[in-house]
Amino acid sequence: VLTEKGAVMELLDQNTEVQLVLQVCAIRGGAIRVLVDELKPIRPRYKVLDVLTREPVYERLRLDKKEENSVTLGWGVSQYQVRIQACPLLLEVLCEGEVTVTLNQKSRLYFEVLQDPPEMRPLTSVDEEEDPTGLWREKFKHFVDIKASGPSSVGVDLRLCGFSHLYGLPEHADTFQLKDTSDGEPYRLYNLDVFGYDIHSRLGLYGSVPLVLAHNTSRTVGVFWLNASETLVDLQRMSDGVPSSDLQRFSPPPAKRRSLQPHTDLIWMSESGVIDSFILLGPAPAQVFSQYAELTGYQAMPPLFSLGYHQCRWNYENEADVKEVDAGFDSHAIPYDVMWLDIEHTDEKRYFTWDPRRFPNPIHLQRHLEERNRKLVVISDPHIKVDPAWSIYCEARKSGHFVRDREGGPFCGRCWPGVSCYLDFSSSTVRAWYSSLFALEKYKGSTEIMFIWNDMNEPSVFDGPEKTMPKDAVHYGGVEHRELHNLYGFYQHLATVEGLVSRSHGLDRPFVLSRSFFAGSQRLGAIWTGDNVATWEYLKISLPMLLSLSVVGIAFCGADVGGFFRDPEPELLVRWYQAGSLQPFFRGHSCREMKRREPWLFADPFTAAIRAAAQQRYRLLPYWYTLFYDAHTSAQPPMRPLWVEFPGEQDTFSVENQYMIGSALLACPVTDPGVTEVKVVLPGSSEYWYDVQTNLFFAGGRTLSLPVTLDTVPLFQRGGTIVPRKSEAGSCSADLQKYPFTLTVALDSKACAVGRLFLDDGHSFGYQDRKQFSLRRFSLQGGRLVCCSADDAGLLDPGCTVSSVSFLGVKNRPSAVTTHISGVEEICRSVQYQEYKHLLLVENLNLNVGKDW
Ligand code: GLC
Repeated sequence: VLTEKGAVMELLDQNTEVQLVLQVCAIRGGAIRVLVDELKPIRPRYKVLDVLTREPVYERLRLDKKEENSVTLGWGVSQYQVRIQACPLLLEVLCEGEVTVTLNQKSRLYFEVLQDPPEMRPLTSVDEEEDPTGLWREKFKHFVDIKASGPSSVGVDLRLCGFSHLYGLPEHADTFQLKDTSDGEPYRLYNLDVFGYDIHSRLGLYGSVPLVLAHNTSRTVGVFWLNASETLVDLQRMSDGVPSSDLQRFSPPPAKRRSLQPHTDLIWMSESGVIDSFILLGPAPAQVFSQYAELTGYQAMPPLFSLGYHQCRWNYENEADVKEVDAGFDSHAIPYDVMWLDIEHTDEKRYFTWDPRRFPNPIHLQRHLEERNRKLVVISDPHIKVDPAWSIYCEARKSGHFVRDREGGPFCGRCWPGVSCYLDFSSSTVRAWYSSLFALEKYKGSTEIMFIWNDMNEPSVFDGPEKTMPKDAVHYGGVEHRELHNLYGFYQHLATVEGLVSRSHGLDRPFVLSRSFFAGSQRLGAIWTGDNVATWEYLKISLPMLLSLSVVGIAFCGADVGGFFRDPEPELLVRWYQAGSLQPFFRGHSCREMKRREPWLFADPFTAAIRAAAQQRYRLLPYWYTLFYDAHTSAQPPMRPLWVEFPGEQDTFSVENQYMIGSALLACPVTDPGVTEVKVVLPGSSEYWYDVQTNLFFAGGRTLSLPVTLDTVPLFQRGGTIVPRKSEAGSCSADLQKYPFTLTVALDSKACAVGRLFLDDGHSFGYQDRKQFSLRRFSLQGGRLVCCSADDAGLLDPGCTVSSVSFLGVKNRPSAVTTHISGVEEICRSVQYQEYKHLLLVENLNLNVGKDW
């Protein structure tokens, strides 16, 4: 047991295997290597066998003497650790009471969640002496945590009884529902730079989150496999106890197991590392989301501007080009917030520099954008050009900040600048150094309106195996790259985020987009799905890809609007803008060989349709922002599959072309060319739905044929909800401050509705540090709409008003509409009632959104 840093050295000789017990909370965010950083390299290739989260350990492991090799642990005690010298192993976990761990020659683990488990037992086996505050018992009562280690690769089978619908495991350009892999192609989690990736391939893309969600009509569970080495996941579905394939190769099921119901075997295999697996017990989807966030962190609260539209291209040529595109948005009345600069803005791909010919005066350019309330994002990749004349390279080289090759020299590979070295972001020292490069005084030409894009951070190595870093490259502490490959991008993202936070002295929220990611990347910022292609197929697959990210915590995600590679036809571009405007991260991007495609270049009706979609996004920004506050505080993803909102409705389980935005809006973007009609599943036989474009009412529990034109963005508001919008779209998010709110109150079958609104300054940590926010609750009941503070109200007076309210589903013309503010009643004069639509519109209001009324 390590008690102080030096101790390890003394314990070691060449042949000793040392077990390191780290008494720090290692489970947050897959950041295990942060802990390893604290240790000195002890020998070139030592292996951390166990990373624990809490002591004491061994006293707590009660060996069942009768059956050798079998261990019985109290159920739900998350912090037990099992160290098993010889893999393989068989672990059987029964949710109802006990965790049974059995060693045997066939390496398999079965996890059985019973269809209707009896009441969960409290953590009886952790007594008060061990856990006097009860904190751990409370925190971990919804987890089963299994830990084990093996000398080389590790593997586990989990049997999920009663579950045949599984989701998650990004990143793959494939269906939202995970497929049975009996065909021999497992899902692979190995972060790679896959240019113009194949659709329906289970090979890994740029990032990975080893989390699977299993869902049936009565329960949702999650299985989180915390391992950052190359991982393969097999899924074998069995209906009625009959294998969908030959499963006889696995251990015979223990007698106790109830195998006659449909189930799925989930088989995890990692090349390296330890077994550290968490089973999240739900039982509702919302609880699985928050249980997972307790382990890996909550979505970062994005700055408001970053929920607006972003305009990117590889590359905007020079300062004049940027200014012209910026002006184009204003002259075409298309709202937008951010201009982006790709690699060509640098001085020959030396990040943190500017090309002196193209961008001689970057500060001036940023001031120009700032005057219009806009921002700039520039790219910063993890590779560093080998250039002895460049200070950043020299400093990194001198300080040993690069990943090493087997021979101990800096690892070199090719990327955009040619021969490059790769910063070892797994080291906290390197991260701190990298973060410091973003300080305004160090990063010449940067200002506080400039934010960052981390690309190529799988890492991409053009001449490396599979275009990435060889697995035997060596990181700080002698750790081989294979052990933490899938964390490389996460660590760069982390260092960049910390750099931006320090740049603002801890005051301002950062915005950093990363291509590569791992479990926990949600704490850092946004993710996009990399180099897609401008075809209808890629537009269509972007929806399940983003849903898969959303359900594993990566809530701030998007796909390149328009498709990165190839030229989209105008209709495709319009449909992509419409879809993108209803997705969390909304950025247009294109490759340098492609034709320019700023939204106005195709003229009307295309420009008009793009403008309408962008304007709708901006009017809805208050709603998106509130959803992100919910993701930040309670881990509910803004973009959600239908089954999350309708967990008991089997019909929704395979829907992947529609989704919910929060709990109020149902989106069904058009993703096919030339269509005049789309089919929309409106779930819930007792639900009410209202078409956002027409206000028309539809009863739920049916599939609707909706006529569409180029302008149609199928979007429905669910009865029982209240959606806040801005009355105008403005020219950018900051501009919205000028405009009042409008509320859309959609009645359910009981004529009730609720909604919330989060407001703050949009950019600082004041909402956290000084309660500088306002959280309002709207509710309609018995013909009264009430605005009051939500539970945690905040101290900010938002100082803006609600100017109009539309009530959808009002069956009878009201005799009068009145407002009540501080005991004063007033009759509203601007009231319209449309009988055939059951729409009541109340205008010319002046209701302070921060006050109760
Ligand atoms: C990668 C990125 C792409 C970027 C290009 C040049 O292909 O995925 O978005 O434009 O590199 O930096």
